[in-house]
Amino acid sequence: MTDQGIMTELDGVDIMKIVEDFGTPVSVNLEDTIRKRCRHLKSSVNGTIRYACKANTLGAILAITRDEGMEIDAVSVGEAWRALNAGYQPEQILFTKDNADKKELEWMAKQGIFVNCGSLDMIRNYGEAIGPHDCRHIAVRINPGEGHGHHRKCSTGGPASKHGIWYTEIKKIKEIAKESGVVISGIHSHIGSNTNIDEWIRIIESTMQVALKFEDLQFLNFGGGLPVPYRPGEKRINLREFGERLNERFHEFCEEYGKQLRLEIEPGRYVVAEAGFIIGRATAVKKTPEYTFVLLDTGFNHLIRPAMYGSYHHIWVCRPEGGKVEYEKQVIAGPNCESGDVFTQTDDGTLEPRRLPVISTGNLVIIGNTGAYGNAMSSNYNSQPRMTELLITPERKIHLIRDKESFEDLVRGEKMPEYLKID
Ligand code: LLP
Repeated sequence: MTDQGIMTELDGVDIMKIVEDFGTPVSVNLEDTIRKRCRHLKSSVNGTIRYACKANTLGAILAITRDEGMEIDAVSVGEAWRALNAGYQPEQILFTKDNADKKELEWMAKQGIFVNCGSLDMIRNYGEAIGPHDCRHIAVRINPGEGHGHHRKCSTGGPASKHGIWYTEIKKIKEIAKESGVVISGIHSHIGSNTNIDEWIRIIESTMQVALKFEDLQFLNFGGGLPVPYRPGEKRINLREFGERLNERFHEFCEEYGKQLRLEIEPGRYVVAEAGFIIGRATAVKKTPEYTFVLLDTGFNHLIRPAMYGSYHHIWVCRPEGGKVEYEKQVIAGPNCESGDVFTQTDDGTLEPRRLPVISTGNLVIIGNTGAYGNAMSSNYNSQPRMTELLITPERKIHLIRDKESFEDLVRGEKMPEYLKID
């Protein structure tokens, strides 16, 4: 992988060859990177690492995190189902939600999946849902009063967040737990996504203060949010130092609590973001008096983060032919019929042309850091099919892990009322 805006290989596999075999657009996931991130996490933090699978729920990815000994944070029945489908055991899954209804909770109780309640209503619902099942222990997610994330839409603490139970409502939590016949054995908080580690370490103090008020705890879960570098020059967090700070503080907490508890964290993007790349093809280049637009065959239907948060994703051009490279500031955009379908923009939608090798129609363009919240947030907008997903193994083998969607996939489940049918 080179910079200067040029890339010709992914983990030693020729990009031209990938495209020859699978076409564009195509998404590539690097197994080696995922495994390395899992191993660093496991060797740095003395506790349970749950992969927050909302970041990327493809079965092959879940099979890798399972193989690496990661447990799972699931936030919907669908995610829990997918984890089971990929070979996880129910006891390896934590189900965190703010408003699960009785039906969802009955399903969890029946499976034997531990539940983390983010509202008083959910505690009540759980009490009513468990029936004969032997699963009276739950966790509660608290809102620690402050949050921090890479964007205001991804900050999950503080008065403006819908998540968790406000940290001062301890008395009510206890009352409702008692009425519902459940025991609080875990305290959870998650302050936001792609957060700042110093803020993370500071705000979990508030979670620990809440935890000291509960007598029957077995674990504390401080959520996910570990950041990854997106822009060139951004530093990766020092995981060893982070682990040392966390382990030490948790050890002190357990001494104060008077019992050794289990420490849990649940990173999502840290595990998968840097393992993902989208390869698209430039299919039109056009100029206005102000901008050069390069239109690709992939857009915000496949990666919505730039349009939704103004997120930066690094972009390279595949130029296997070498030779002298000319650079130009170009706006990299998608094929969808909406002006906001642009990869290089700020949070308020202002275009941010990127200095890249001059791109001509037909060139391959690679977008980086798409492993987290790429395919997981993709859509069929403009009736665009989701693309082929590949896995490259450490031995440089390419595996197809999801087929490109077909047109039939686009209409699957639709029903045509009799009176609207044509003969
Ligand atoms: N735990 C809980 C309860 C969460 O809600 C989340 C993310 C995580 C863990 C994992 O956060 P991570 O380690 O991946 O930062 N779509 C946004 C991210 C939203 C994340 C929502 N919750 C994005 O593309 O940046």
